[in-house]
Amino acid sequence: MRILVAGATGVLGRALLPLLAGRGHHVTALVRSPGSGSGLGDVVVADALDRDGVVAAVRAAAPDVVVHQLSALRSPSAFEETARLRMEGTEHLLAAAHAAGVRRFVAQSIAFATAPEGPAVLDEDARLYSDAPDEGWARTVRAVATLEELTLGAGGIVLRCGTLSGPGTQYAPDGAVGGALAKGRFRLPDAATGRTSFVHAADAAHATVLAVESEVTGRFNITGDEPVTAAEWVPRLARLLGGPPPRTIPQDLARRLLGWFPSYQLTALRGASNERARQVLGWKPHYARWDTGMARP
Ligand SMILES: NC(=O)c1ccc[n+]([C@@H]2O[C@H](COP(=O)([O-])OP(=O)(O)OC[C@H]3O[C@@H](n4cnc5c(N)ncnc54)[C@H](OP(=O)(O)O)[C@@H]3O)[C@@H](O)[C@H]2O)c1
Repeated sequence: MRILVAGATGVLGRALLPLLAGRGHHVTALVRSPGSGSGLGDVVVADALDRDGVVAAVRAAAPDVVVHQLSALRSPSAFEETARLRMEGTEHLLAAAHAAGVRRFVAQSIAFATAPEGPAVLDEDARLYSDAPDEGWARTVRAVATLEELTLGAGGIVLRCGTLSGPGTQYAPDGAVGGALAKGRFRLPDAATGRTSFVHAADAAHATVLAVESEVTGRFNITGDEPVTAAEWVPRLARLLGGPPPRTIPQDLARRLLGWFPSYQLTALRGASNERARQVLGWKPHYARWDTGMARP
């Protein structure tokens, strides 16, 4: 099949492209500038926020399937820009896909947008936290909901990835979190019961290949088997990366020092179950333990 990947230069994109090519698919990367596509094979150039540019680029690529994995997490205005990519970017890609006669749309979402209520591990039917007390996070969650509704409305499939681990991620030895843990600069709130559902980028890429090749629609958590509390993962990852045990601080101070979302992730976030993806997509994580491969650069 002909596959267009928007977000091909990112962490997930770098893991996905060789897998798709290895399955015999023809891949075209949608990139923002011709230079950023070097080494990616066929490229088309457009900014995802430029509707006409996206329509022309998708038409030129003439894909059977579009994969939307845009985010701006590295930008200084990460939340605002990523929210725009999830709303306007999704609309543009869907309009372009429609105009080009694309038959399948795969969109990446997040598995950690659920409200902190109910059991410790939630499935895809759990309520989203669009009324989070932090307006930045509430806006993020509303943008996630928009991306999902637009995608499902067009008959597409939504993959709600957990927190990506592996090379190039924040949790790698040279990532923001990994580096802070290795240097003893990470602060752990005293009530560290929030659960993170890690998934290795290679496993998320494999799930994306299955989604591309199947006809299934709906929302699927793409998460590891073990949503793990911060009280477990933070000291364990610090040890793996050669750092000292993290210093514990009171929850109120954590919110001020770390910011709302990191503090929420460490203290209250629920885990995400991968049962539906296992049953319906036939996916399972190859990195079965959350910490496998975490110490590798
Ligand atoms: N990272 C995580 O822990 C995580 C967790 C759950 C879900 N996800 C989802 O998984 C997907 C991939 O995440 P990732 O970590 O691989 O992201 P990433 O490394 O930040 O890559 C994002 C990609 O989006 C592209 N992009 C950003 N703004 C663009 C624009 N205006 N026009 C065209 N392209 C643009 C970037 O291109 P440039 O190279 O030009 O910047 C890059 O290829 C995203 O949908 C994200 O929401 C990620």
